[in-house]
Amino acid sequence: MKNKAGQLNKPSPAPGGAMAEVGVALLGFGTVGGGVADLLNRNGDLIAARAGVRPVLRRVADQNLQASPEIAIDRSLFVRDAAEAVADPSVSLVVELIGGTGAARECVLDALRRGKPVITANKALLAHHGAELFAESRRCGVPIYFEASVGGGIPVLRALREGLIADRVSSVLGIVNGTCNYILTRMEEQHCEYDEALAAARAKGYAERDPSLDVDGWDTAHKAVVLAALALGAWIPLDRVSRRGIAGLDARDIELAAARGLRIKLLALIRNGPSGLEVGVEPCLVPAQGLLGPVRGVFNAVLVRASPVGDTLYYGRGAGREATASAVAGDIAEAAARLVSGGGRPAGLPCDGAAPALTGAGDVEAQQYLRVSFPDDRAGERTEAAWAVLGRHGLHPLEAHAQTHAGDGGSSLVLRTRTAPARSADAAAAALAGLPGAEPRPVRLRIEEV
Ligand code: HSE
Repeated sequence: MKNKAGQLNKPSPAPGGAMAEVGVALLGFGTVGGGVADLLNRNGDLIAARAGVRPVLRRVADQNLQASPEIAIDRSLFVRDAAEAVADPSVSLVVELIGGTGAARECVLDALRRGKPVITANKALLAHHGAELFAESRRCGVPIYFEASVGGGIPVLRALREGLIADRVSSVLGIVNGTCNYILTRMEEQHCEYDEALAAARAKGYAERDPSLDVDGWDTAHKAVVLAALALGAWIPLDRVSRRGIAGLDARDIELAAARGLRIKLLALIRNGPSGLEVGVEPCLVPAQGLLGPVRGVFNAVLVRASPVGDTLYYGRGAGREATASAVAGDIAEAAARLVSGGGRPAGLPCDGAAPALTGAGDVEAQQYLRVSFPDDRAGERTEAAWAVLGRHGLHPLEAHAQTHAGDGGSSLVLRTRTAPARSADAAAAALAGLPGAEPRPVRLRIEEV
């Protein structure tokens, strides 16, 4: 491959007809970096046989030269300075696993300008700087691969990029944050409160160092931007992605949902629907026995609706050393094979079209679930007043159900409405707090029939 600067990054010629090698730099040797090195060790022959070229680690950059000591690797490959690893002439592919959006961005730009294809797992980097990085990738004629940035080991980006390249995507709905799905599953299965489930997720090492990235929906929003880039062909600015997380979710809603055959799932939502184009993150009620409801624990699943193919569903481990290393190594193999064959730019990458206009979160229409609770056991007596509140906000109730809670003697009124804009449902929820004796902050959740 030849970049615009005229530099050549060719695989090493193979002496005596042996298989060609491609030199790889790993930037970051934490959980994922260690997993990638381990996988290249374990499955190196398999990868070489399938890719027709052997990716070989030539440099590893990490501040800690003894990082991931459990991985068998030649420590003489290690340098502290990522820029040194990128510049090393024996390196033709750069794997960015530094994380964050500062040094990682610099290294990616540097690699592209040196004509070295980049593989990254960094969804935050792509969500913040995807438009810039892909513009530079096109300018330099050097690809960026990013399968591991969404859904861990699930090859869903490859499916969107290649398998569905001839299809028009009408929606992508995904459970793409394993930590949140673990918390929601645990709250339901253990009948515990949110704080207890979050503590369990942290104890298992699932949550990000700053759990707000998970539970406030940031990580899912980053992944929604990446999914939208492939589904819509444009980078949506992160600040235009509507976002609600699961922090502080009330165990009563999990319980009331379960009683109706529903489960709460934090969804990345990209949809071209009757209310316009939306890209957002929101906890939604989905049928427990539908396509996304049965996804438990840290697993991820992404449902793509496209024409003419119809529904396709992608499921698997969304995080962790092994799954993420599988996606990164898959990208290394593809990048190495393209270098050898002169295969050029991968198909189906986001283009630099202007970001389309999005529907505001308040205007998105869906069936709505509303819950208002009372310290006494007389929720049922407020049903008529609650229906009147809904009517005043233009909402049409489908169902009203009063339930007494075991233990504290309190009760809740659950209302399910016909399709209505989120803004009207939020206003109705706020007004329900004015019912006699109601607890403050009634809850509104969207229902998705998937
Ligand atoms: N914190 C993320 C999750 C890691 O829980 O899914 C994988 O991106």
